[in-house]
Amino acid sequence: MVSEHAAQVLVASNRGPVSYALREDGTLDSKRGGGGLVSGLSAVEDKLWVCAALSDGDREAVRRGASEPGVRMLDVDADVHADAYNGIANSVLWFVHHMIYQTPLEPVFDAEFRRQWASYEAYNRAFAQALAEEAGEGAAVLVQDYHLSLVPGILRELRPDLRIGHFSHTPWAPVDYFRLLPDDIGEQLLKGILGADRAAFLTRRWADAFIACCTEILGGTGRTRIGVHGLGADADFLRRRSREADVDERMEILREQVGADRRTIVRVDRTELSKNIVRGLHSYRALLEEHPEWRERVVHIAFAYPSRQDLAVYRDYTAEVQRVADRINADFGTESWAPVLLQVDDDFARSLAAYRLADVALVNPIRDGMNLVAKEVPVVSDNGCALVLSREAGAYEELGEDAIVVNPYDVSATATALHEALTMDPDERGARSKRLAAAATALPPQRWFLDQLDALRG
Ligand code: G6P
Repeated sequence: MVSEHAAQVLVASNRGPVSYALREDGTLDSKRGGGGLVSGLSAVEDKLWVCAALSDGDREAVRRGASEPGVRMLDVDADVHADAYNGIANSVLWFVHHMIYQTPLEPVFDAEFRRQWASYEAYNRAFAQALAEEAGEGAAVLVQDYHLSLVPGILRELRPDLRIGHFSHTPWAPVDYFRLLPDDIGEQLLKGILGADRAAFLTRRWADAFIACCTEILGGTGRTRIGVHGLGADADFLRRRSREADVDERMEILREQVGADRRTIVRVDRTELSKNIVRGLHSYRALLEEHPEWRERVVHIAFAYPSRQDLAVYRDYTAEVQRVADRINADFGTESWAPVLLQVDDDFARSLAAYRLADVALVNPIRDGMNLVAKEVPVVSDNGCALVLSREAGAYEELGEDAIVVNPYDVSATATALHEALTMDPDERGARSKRLAAAATALPPQRWFLDQLDALRG
């Protein structure tokens, strides 16, 4: 049954724009999230965001009917969600899309995988059913990411009148790599996304890889149109927010920690295997070894905040990052100089403070759909910063010309790139940084979202 207050624009994503925590006294604390989708959607009226309850606090909010207007949280059974999110989405699909499985040991597709896959299907069906209930006649539905790849296909069956879009925020693997998935699962994923009228990606490269998979495995993309929308940084928001008092305060603290007259190499990431934080630290170590003149004169600010800690590979990786950073500090540090400043809690104001102080930004993912840090630092940095950028980040398509580009596996070359960035002539660095900021903000989040909506309706 279609609900009475049927929405004309719907967005579906695993993680929603708000989350809840249960306080000791039994009341609920709500916290708003950020990111491209949240700012993108702010331009749209009469919309509904369908997302999952991710925590006990979220589930309690659903039970109490506390969820805010414009948001519908789905209380999918916690075990089903865990299998779909941790088991399939983050342990299988994330690794396939980013091409980061450590074959020959991983992956293994066995009975446990099949059991989790059934949960992934159930989870996707729950979303499709909720969207079918909430969408007005002929409404536009924008489904986000690899958690919900099957939703477009199921929703199309339930509501043929809707305009359905799917957006992939991740890379897409070439067909030879994608074929690592069991044949029927690969087909189901492709057909699921092709249930959309339009499937869109962050770069041409990922879109072409998707088309190649569809062509090779299914014989084509059928009636689905394929689009590319390269999400950019939100210049207005970043410039304003990075000048607020809490950011100034954190800059003072950071300045003190770095020490006077020292240069900074800054990175900010979720602690995520695809971000390649450990090789980044090895590269910094190689810089200090190859160019001892930088000892005492540079600090590597690495903010790596926790992510997906239910999964052992993420916990192990987090520990490895800490170990490698500690080792560098033990081997090179002096009484007055800690070479690495690693912080593992999430503090957006502090990240902005680091962006402002950055002489060099290090963005070296093994693979990344886009990478917004690469786009944000040049916009915010006070003195113009040099960007060392992996050619495997989606942002490379737009920023490659003015960045110092590296192969993310090549630790020695990355060390050389860091040295080059630190020694870049200040005028050259300033000019490049301006061009980087202009390219990075070409498609701000609101435009990014409205373009997709227009293309879907057009
Ligand atoms: C990537 C995905 C997003 C996801 C984000 C955070 O950027 O493309 O869909 O929201 O990671 O991951 P999490 O698992 O914490 O939601």
